[in-house]
Amino acid sequence: MVPMKQPHELRSHQWYGTDGLRSFSHRARTRQLGYLPEEHLGKPVIAILNTWSDINPCHVHLRDRAQAVKRGVWQAGGFPLEFPVSTLSETFQKPTPMLYRNLLAMETEELLRSYPVDGAVLMGGCDKSTPALLMGAASVDLPAVFVPAGPMLPGHWRGEVLGSGTDMWKYWDDKRAGLIGDCELTGLESGLARSPGHCMTMGTASTLTAAAEALGVTVPGASSIPAVDSGHDRMAAKAGLTIVELVHKDRRLSEILTRDAFADAVTTVLGLGGSTNAVIHLIAMAGRAGVTLTLDDFDRIARTVPVLANVRPGGQRYLMEDFHFAGGLPGFLSRIPDLLHLDRPTVAHDTLREQISAAQVHNDDVIRPRDNPVASEGGVAVLRGNLCPDGAVIKHIAAEPHLLEHTGPAVVFDDYRTMQRTINDPESNITADSVLVLRGAGPKGGPGMPEYGMLPIPDHLLKQGVRDMVRISDARMSGTSYGACVLHVAPESYIGGPLALVRTGDPITLDVRARTLHLHVDDEELERRRAGWTPPPARYERGYGALYNEQITQADTGCDFEFLARPGQVPDPYAG
Ligand code: FES
Ligand code: MG
Repeated sequence: MVPMKQPHELRSHQWYGTDGLRSFSHRARTRQLGYLPEEHLGKPVIAILNTWSDINPCHVHLRDRAQAVKRGVWQAGGFPLEFPVSTLSETFQKPTPMLYRNLLAMETEELLRSYPVDGAVLMGGCDKSTPALLMGAASVDLPAVFVPAGPMLPGHWRGEVLGSGTDMWKYWDDKRAGLIGDCELTGLESGLARSPGHCMTMGTASTLTAAAEALGVTVPGASSIPAVDSGHDRMAAKAGLTIVELVHKDRRLSEILTRDAFADAVTTVLGLGGSTNAVIHLIAMAGRAGVTLTLDDFDRIARTVPVLANVRPGGQRYLMEDFHFAGGLPGFLSRIPDLLHLDRPTVAHDTLREQISAAQVHNDDVIRPRDNPVASEGGVAVLRGNLCPDGAVIKHIAAEPHLLEHTGPAVVFDDYRTMQRTINDPESNITADSVLVLRGAGPKGGPGMPEYGMLPIPDHLLKQGVRDMVRISDARMSGTSYGACVLHVAPESYIGGPLALVRTGDPITLDVRARTLHLHVDDEELERRRAGWTPPPARYERGYGALYNEQITQADTGCDFEFLARPGQVPDPYAG
């Protein structure tokens, strides 16, 4: 039995339990909300931060799911209060929800700090919402449990199982190559994404929710439960029960989000063959928890972790529902105990060892045994070289192997619109050996590092059957994308990184085995080009965009805002 906190030990006591006028007013206003004193006084106040919205198909079920969380909170003797927070919809929000990840992180932090909150349940899952909620909560450092939105059901069309995102790109290429027409596209529209929930490939959403589970901030097994499965309601209720217990134990996020936990999250992301976006987000999340995580940590760990999850797009066949029924994340972690830090606590257990002790794998083709991995080392490599002095990443397991050591002439596009307009121009002389370079798509230049990194293969090459080429950018790439795409080039071109100096025709060598990316132009010539380079004009003269442009850090340090990432004290508000 966990000893219960006395009412005066709760943070919310400052709002409710003191003798002054303020407490009287807070109690009166809670009567106004319709609650009896005995329903809430002396109980832990649990904020449920819900990213539900009508515009977000990945979170549309969270409106109902919050009721299950509340059920759990009430039953454990807590007082649940739901807070709607901004929704980050990967599909609809332009130019990219990455521009708004830090805004949701700020909102999360400031809501939790400014209201009478003892603990928080964070509900999200579509790509950036997971890091945003956890970054904000880590900065406040209250007890918190993350409720992952859960993957949508597998897509279906004409007898084929479809992966959201991944098959969207694939069939769009087929349409461009003239292999399918409008009638097929109409069918695909209804089949690609057939239930609420986040993308059901091992895209950014599944990768980040798995990372959250590996960090230890979810109910065990939570991250792969399909969004519309009744098990998702039960998991949400369990999260409600768990958060009240955590408040009584005073187990805060700082006790869970340790360096060991982040190392295990990196191991997990790599062993799942997960999204390259996780590199940026985990670095940012770790920063908020006071842990220094670097690109080199990813590369070092990648060399020790085999890819065991046979889930698209890194794996061949399966989707998240298959992964769930094969044992989910506990099953996966049970295959790599020697690569994990088993003595650290989670929200549910005193040790990770205890958490995964009963875990099993039920399908060896979905979660592979160590002697039959999908790939013998982690799916992401960190590159260095004169084109990316502060690093770049490539998800090499999703690329055609013959391109992993490749030299070819650059074809440079200054921005995304120019690329769209000119890439199919026969005059551009692009061949399968060309190296497509897109700049102006980084954290400031994009802005927000849009997922432009999987540059399209030109139409004439598609028709010849070319399906992959070396592509380099300071952009990100969707976790459901694939190809020999070098991403997150740092520093970005917009602030004068070497990418700004490349010219069409310059030879570039990608060598994934050697972890290098080299522009074959000598230093003197690069200096000459730099002398003639002028920084682009500021994109935003006012508003959030101006703040973003001023504060955003580069990809290798996680794209947080400098004023949010820096260490320092923030006083708890005086409420009494
Ligand atoms: Fe939300 Fe893919 S669009 S997770
Ligand atoms: Mg995505």
